[in-house]
Amino acid sequence: EPVRILGVPTDYGASRRGVDMGPSAIRYAELGAALRAMGLEPTDAGDLSVPRAEGRDPGRADAKYLPVVESVCTRLADRVRETLSAGGTPLVLGGDHSIAIGSLAGATHDADVGVLWFDAHGDFNTPTTTPSGNVHGMALAAALGRGEFGELDWARAPGLDPSRVALVGVRDLDAGEQAALRGSDVHAYTMSDIDDRGVTAVVADAVDAASGGDGVHVSLDLDWLEPTEAPGVGTPVRGGVTYREAHAALERVATDATVRSLELVEVNPILDDHNATGELAVELAASALGKRIL
Ligand code: ARG
Ligand code: MN
Ligand code: MN
Ligand code: MN
Repeated sequence: EPVRILGVPTDYGASRRGVDMGPSAIRYAELGAALRAMGLEPTDAGDLSVPRAEGRDPGRADAKYLPVVESVCTRLADRVRETLSAGGTPLVLGGDHSIAIGSLAGATHDADVGVLWFDAHGDFNTPTTTPSGNVHGMALAAALGRGEFGELDWARAPGLDPSRVALVGVRDLDAGEQAALRGSDVHAYTMSDIDDRGVTAVVADAVDAASGGDGVHVSLDLDWLEPTEAPGVGTPVRGGVTYREAHAALERVATDATVRSLELVEVNPILDDHNATGELAVELAASALGKRIL
């Protein structure tokens, strides 16, 4: 199962510029070499083409840049689906978290897939509840086809079952997201759960929830980590997991889950400290794909 790297240099789903440079930052941190060092043979399929942001009109305030987000996600879904049907493992480099809509549509095509979503946020808003209008804050809800919003109908990943979706490490929910999550079958594990039970026990439960089908899609938003460890993200939130907890979690994913596809999102090199967050993304991808110390 050769790993195929797919870059998605977009920040249309976020309000700050910079996460469009995430694929460059992660490649610059020697993603390819790190995977080859563990015996994998990654291929790099390059980047999807994304139009330049400067001078574009965001359009509707409750779902900014929606037509571009749709175009990017639809093309990404095709690439992910083609990679999987060729027996490869897609490794998607974002870009903001709106690209998960495309990854999930591709990953769930003709497959029964669970989701492990590591994030400070729930990304469970809709155009009705969003405080920002940024589609990255709606990505998971949209992929699940939630809500009243016809404008995001295209984003639904058919066959994605909310009871096989686990959110891990969430600590910043808007009021509307909190209500929606409570009323859904999505498994949400907060930072408080990690405080109480430890990260490996929580991840084991999340993996149990997501498993049982053809494998899992791992969606790793780098703002899941404590911002002192991962400063290069668009929407940092204090109180995240430590460097060691993050590794423990993804090592656990590698041993206990069948990782079918993986994405690394929200790396913003403009805000970073000498590419520390890009480097962290590489290390965590290696852990999730089975890197062992000994
Ligand atoms: N909840 C906030 C919003 O809807 C922040 C979302 C941040 N999401 C992310 N993928 N970084 O705008
Ligand atoms: Mn996110
Ligand atoms: Mn986030
Ligand atoms: Mn369940």
